[in-house]
Amino acid sequence: MTQRAVNFYDAHPGTADLRREVLDGLAADPRAIPAKFFYDERGSELFDRICELPEYYQTRTEMAVLRTALPQLGRLIGAECLLVELGSGASKKVRLLLEELRPSGYLGVDISKEFLLNSTEALARDYPWLEVHAACVDFSAGLAIPHCNPTDHKVAFFPGSSIGNFDPDDAVHLMRDVGLLVDDGGHLLIGVDLKKSVDVLNTAYNDSAGITAAFNRNLLHRIRGELDSDIRPDGFDHYAFYNPQAGRIEMHLISSISQDVRVEDQVFEFLPGEGIHTENSYKYTVAGFGELAARAGFRQQAVWVDEQGLFSVQLLQYHA
Ligand code: AVJ
Repeated sequence: MTQRAVNFYDAHPGTADLRREVLDGLAADPRAIPAKFFYDERGSELFDRICELPEYYQTRTEMAVLRTALPQLGRLIGAECLLVELGSGASKKVRLLLEELRPSGYLGVDISKEFLLNSTEALARDYPWLEVHAACVDFSAGLAIPHCNPTDHKVAFFPGSSIGNFDPDDAVHLMRDVGLLVDDGGHLLIGVDLKKSVDVLNTAYNDSAGITAAFNRNLLHRIRGELDSDIRPDGFDHYAFYNPQAGRIEMHLISSISQDVRVEDQVFEFLPGEGIHTENSYKYTVAGFGELAARAGFRQQAVWVDEQGLFSVQLLQYHA
C-alpha cells in the first residue's frame, strides 16, 4: 500500500451545477453560459494547447515576467508560507514559485478533478519536502476550502489572468473572499492581462489552428455528453472579438442555421446568427486593476510587466 501523497478534498462541483446553469443560461436573454464549464478534461487539455499557440502571448509572457520577479518575490514574501493556487490546472507556473519561495505547504484549488489530482500528485512526487493539499471546488461560488493553520502566512496565487473571466464587480467579490482566506498581511500574487492593440487581442482569440474554436465548442460537447441533449456542436460557429467599450474579449457560439436544441425536457429555438455568450476576458491597465484591488482591501505592493507591456504580474497585500 502506498500512502496518498496528496490530501484531497472534494466539494463535488458536478453535473447538477452544469445542468442548472445551462438551462438557466439558455433561458436567459441574452443567452449565456459561464466560462468555468469549459474545463472538463478535454477542455483543460485544449486550454493547455491554447497556451502554446504562437498567437496566444499570455502564458509565455507571464512565465517570463514571473521569472524576472522571482528574486524580489522571495524577499517580499519570505519562506514557509502556505501557497494556495486558484485554478491550478496543469500547475506549471507554480513550480517556479515553489523552488524560489520554499513554502511549507501547497494547496491546489480547481474545478476539474482529474487535472487537479494529476497535477498535485506530480508536485508531491517532485517536491518531497512539500506538504500538498488539493481541493476540488468551484471557487466562483465562494472559497469554502479546508481549514488552514491561522498563523501561516498565506499567499494566494491566481495566474493566467483568470480574474479576467469575472465581471469587475464579481472580481472584487472574489478578491474579498481571497482576502478573508489570506488574512491581514497575507498576499495575492495575480496575473493580469493588459489593455493593448485590438489586433493583437483579436488574433490571440482567433488562432489559425482553430484550437480556441474547438475549446469554445467543447462546451457543447460537454452538454451533449453529460446532459440529455441533442445539441450539435457543428451547428455553431466560434465568434470572438474585443469589445473596447467594455474592455473585454467576448466569446460566443453562433448558430449557423435555424435549429431547435433540446436540453433535458426543454427546447430552445435558434435562428441563424443567434448565439450563446460563453466567455468574457477583461483586460486592464495597471492603474485600473489597482483600483479594483483596492475595493477588495488589497494594495499593489509590486507590479512586474514585460517590455512590450502585454501582461502584468502583481503582488497585492491584504489589509483587513
Ligand atoms: C484562462 C480565462 C485566462 O481569457 O484568455 C483562452 C481563457 N479563452 N482562450 C483567457 C481563454 C480563450 C483564458 N483564461
